[in-house]
Amino acid sequence: MCAGKDIILTRRSIRKYKPGVKVTKEQLDYMLKAAFTAPNASNKQPWEFLIAESDEAKSKILKVHPYCSFLSDASLAILVLGNTDINAKFWAVDCAIASENIMLAANSLGLGTCLCCGYPIEEIMTGMAKEFELPENIKLFGVIVVGAPDEQKEPALDRVDMKKVHFDKY
Ligand SMILES: Cc1cc2nc3c(=O)[nH]c(=O)nc-3n(C[C@H](O)[C@H](O)[C@H](O)COP(=O)(O)O)c2cc1C
Repeated sequence: MCAGKDIILTRRSIRKYKPGVKVTKEQLDYMLKAAFTAPNASNKQPWEFLIAESDEAKSKILKVHPYCSFLSDASLAILVLGNTDINAKFWAVDCAIASENIMLAANSLGLGTCLCCGYPIEEIMTGMAKEFELPENIKLFGVIVVGAPDEQKEPALDRVDMKKVHFDKY
């Protein structure tokens, strides 16, 4: 378990997982709590979550998604979905923030995650909608792969670039 701001700075995308190590119900509950308590536009909460943990559900994702082959070794994936009837303008923004909350919660538990793209890639969104028989108003935002990390990465502090920070004027 990391402490304080390290939970944020140590989150990295993990693409190697220890096969056979399962995310527990308590861990999943905590990640979902983090998702549901994310800030969101007008507090409309347009998100839904589909937990893919069976081999069948994982293979549906792998069939459609070209960039998340490492899911096969991970414990599960969380499809982050947005309801466009609830918030047609901000669903994707809200889902993005909920996704980051999930990934930070997972990091605090020592789990690895990688957010794999959905919105706005049409082929992946429609492919996933077909595989999981999503209603018309339920859109894929992204796929978060979750599992026991089998690689270690340093915080990406080399990305800090104060030239991109502006005080009082551009
Ligand atoms: C909107 C979005 C889509 C992404 N899609 C993928 C993806 O499909 N496959 C993948 O392996 N990583 C994906 N990533 C992870 C990025 O590649 C990663 O966040 C970036 O390289 C920075 O590395 P870090 O997360 O370790 O800091 C995605 C990240 C975001 C925010």
